[in-house]
Amino acid sequence: MDAVKDLALRLLEREPPPGPVMDPALYVAGSLPGLLAALAKPGGRADGPALGSLCLKYAHAYVHPDRIGQDVSLEAVTELAGQFVRRRGGCRSLAGRDGLRRLLLHHGFALQMLFDLPKTVHLLTALGAAASRVLAGEGFLGLDCGAGTGILLLGQYLLAGQLGVAAPSLWGIEHLPPVAARADDLLSALGVGRVLCGDATASAIYNNFPQGPVACLTNETLPSRGRRLYKEPFTAICQALFAALGDRLGDTAFVPEAVWAVDRAGEWLRLAPENAFAGDDGQGKPARLFAMADVELAGRRLPADRVGEPFADLLAPAWREVLGRRW
Ligand SMILES: C[S@@+](CC[C@H](N)C(=O)[O-])C[C@H]1O[C@@H](n2cnc3c(N)ncnc32)[C@H](O)[C@@H]1O
Repeated sequence: MDAVKDLALRLLEREPPPGPVMDPALYVAGSLPGLLAALAKPGGRADGPALGSLCLKYAHAYVHPDRIGQDVSLEAVTELAGQFVRRRGGCRSLAGRDGLRRLLLHHGFALQMLFDLPKTVHLLTALGAAASRVLAGEGFLGLDCGAGTGILLLGQYLLAGQLGVAAPSLWGIEHLPPVAARADDLLSALGVGRVLCGDATASAIYNNFPQGPVACLTNETLPSRGRRLYKEPFTAICQALFAALGDRLGDTAFVPEAVWAVDRAGEWLRLAPENAFAGDDGQGKPARLFAMADVELAGRRLPADRVGEPFADLLAPAWREVLGRRW
């Protein structure tokens, strides 16, 4: 009977796309801590290939934390990307590796965000561009609502480093316990920050963070273009966040900077810090009933489904479709 089951499972197996996930000429060699230290330098500004390589190494360390300090080759990150893509149906390199497959399945949503290199790198680049909007004092308190793997906290670490703050205070909130625990372990090991397990739509969670003004806030809990905002917790998180920390958010650099939503009648709302990301006047229909449309990143408004376009070439063509799943 087991043999029949095995045979049936083997029939579902397919191989991931051929060839490296990223152009070998673009992939930056070295370990994750090494690349992170090289990029988090005062005045430094990482380019797309460096950020793409950083994301791939970070994904590798998230799945294989025991190999965090190793020089992770393009072959190794390509193998992992392939295993991730084939986590449901299986492939040769997942055969007999049930523990790894379960991990990829349980952390699938968080990893899916990270592995969409063009969109993730676009968000990280927008974070880098926020440098001119951050009041660089002695400290740097950064928060990330819906932290997932913690990749945007890594982006905040680069931003703080760029501003000359070597030891920022970075905190994420993630409501899925296994994801929060894994992200927390990884970011702690890298000396980047911490991730708390909790609900970012509840104001009480914000009491856990240090006092003082918030330098940077990332919140990528948005649905894809055309879907109503209530499908994801973005507006509920903003409501709780501003209720809890409103007076500490006056000079905060938000990423995204604003969100545009539209209803069936063609009425537009711009959700931005000045209206607590609740819409223009709070008088009419609640923002959560509007459909997601555009985001503002690095001073540019663009449709959410076009985020990542400038970085599309970071993924080899065969991998673009299977890894492009953020929005
Ligand atoms: C779209 S993902 C983004 C993850 C990460 N920030 C990134 O950019 O890759 C949204 C994350 O928010 C988490 N999340 C959803 N609702 C939440 C809530 N109420 N409180 C905390 N986290 C939440 C999800 O589990 C998911 O990991």
